[in-house]
Amino acid sequence: MEKFKLKESILAGRLILLQRRHEHDADVWLAIEESRSFLREYLFWVDSTKTYADVVKATDMFAKKWDEDGEWCYNLYSLPDNRFLGCIGVHGISFMNQTAELGYWLRLSETGKGYMAEAVQALENELFLAGIHRVEIRCDVHNFNSANVAKRAGYTLESTAKEALYHYTGLHDRETYVKISPYPIRGFERKI
Ligand SMILES: CC(C)(COP(=O)(O)OP(=O)(O)OC[C@H]1O[C@@H](n2cnc3c(N)ncnc32)[C@H](O)[C@@H]1OP(=O)(O)O)[C@@H](O)C(=O)NCCC(=O)NCCS
Repeated sequence: MEKFKLKESILAGRLILLQRRHEHDADVWLAIEESRSFLREYLFWVDSTKTYADVVKATDMFAKKWDEDGEWCYNLYSLPDNRFLGCIGVHGISFMNQTAELGYWLRLSETGKGYMAEAVQALENELFLAGIHRVEIRCDVHNFNSANVAKRAGYTLESTAKEALYHYTGLHDRETYVKISPYPIRGFERKI
């Protein structure tokens, strides 16, 4: 399929997804600081995010990846009161295979409100409309909160890879949840 770019902002009911930019850096930093012990359990970049400058550096990296079509990172804000909630991103995109993977986190104070399942569905819808056929969510077999987001958003557990994921305590099994696009597969008009 042809390469495409996603929109810089996506409306998702009670929230909005905005392309990660430096104007959000202070919000991101505060959210990481207040949720550190919660987030670090399954997100290994948290311990290496030691200062505000590390957040700024990460935003630069995501801006570069956005331009190179490698990875699209969005910050989530509540509507209409504009509270910073967390992040969601598309990575591991393959235009040839029409597949993509989603990753996400919420600040602790904004969990338990249904925001992430809503964000997942809005972002996946943009991917399906653009021609992506298969979206995956991968998580540690012990990360029930993440698996529940996938299930709540209508994903199906497809496989469990043995000892495939680093964790502080050892190598853990990794689950893959999948949703297939409701639209027809594209780009196979050419005869071999
Ligand atoms: C994974 C993570 C984003 C899930 O957050 P979450 O708040 O549980 O998920 P959602 O935003 O979808 O909210 C669902 C919860 O809100 C509740 N809820 C409240 N109001 C709701 C509403 N209006 N609509 C839907 N659900 C609602 C649901 O009942 C559910 O609570 P429960 O799990 O106790 O039943 C969060 O735990 C997190 O950031 N974890 C650390 C980082 C991480 O592990 N990331 C994933 C790596 S693979």
